[in-house]
Amino acid sequence: MNETEENRPDAKAPSFLLNDNPTLQELLLKPTTRDNAILNDQKIRRLYVQAASQQWFAPQRIDFTAPLGLTDEQRQVWIRLAGVFYTLEKMGLNVIMGMMGRAVRKFRSDELAYYLTEQAHDEGRHVFVIENYLKRLGAPPKFDRSLQILGQVTHTGFYQVENWLFSTLFSENFASSFLRRTRMATIDPIGAEMCKQLLVDESRHIHFLHIVLPDILDRLSLMGKTYLRASQGFMMHFTERVSRGLKDDAALVGIDRDALLEEVFENMEKSYHTLGLNPRFIPFAKIRNSSAIVH
Ligand SMILES: [Fe+2]
Ligand SMILES: [Fe+2]
Repeated sequence: MNETEENRPDAKAPSFLLNDNPTLQELLLKPTTRDNAILNDQKIRRLYVQAASQQWFAPQRIDFTAPLGLTDEQRQVWIRLAGVFYTLEKMGLNVIMGMMGRAVRKFRSDELAYYLTEQAHDEGRHVFVIENYLKRLGAPPKFDRSLQILGQVTHTGFYQVENWLFSTLFSENFASSFLRRTRMATIDPIGAEMCKQLLVDESRHIHFLHIVLPDILDRLSLMGKTYLRASQGFMMHFTERVSRGLKDDAALVGIDRDALLEEVFENMEKSYHTLGLNPRFIPFAKIRNSSAIVH
């Protein structure tokens, strides 16, 4: 998992819950037990409490009236890059709203219901923040329908709930690496603060996947795993191809698109290792070669 001290999910958890009050800990952190629990409800509940304590209201964290200080060319680049990010986050929001009830029923977990409402809240806030950032840049957000296939691949077909959760391992890792690099790029103070705030949430989303995916993969047949592999492989190839067209834009504001993708794939390999999956589960090498050859 790729977490710094700053954005580790429990880094900002309220001390009154986790350190100072065992009575409250016992009361709030203990899950409703089930004899045949499928997921690790204890960990999910703890993450829910952390997620609930870390909710934030965008205008209180981000000064949307701050001066941009960008050249016109830089502003146009951020309109295009933030436009793609807006579409991806909006798709993520649509998908989580459609899938959370099904996931809760499938895994019979009340704790999952608590947690997913918080994550859906996070994604709604992300869309809201990027929408206002784009308006501030002078370009009201537009949903890019050419990217819609990504959302469809992640939760249609077979093994829909498993496919959704497994595919977010890639999208959340991609979002985290993109935000980390964007924050350090030539960007205005609104965009930089936006990235900083979103990064904390996205790191928590990755943490959630590392809690639930081992149990979900454990229950899945070989055919199911093969299906997930094909779906995620498609996502990676699609992302690699679409991001080629944004390479020059990214370079203009100091983001190295190839290094970004390389970082995402490395993080995925680490995640696969943690999950006990063969790193060759997804054809990383093929993607790297194609990105090196075709531009
Ligand atoms: Fe998000
Ligand atoms: Fe997320």
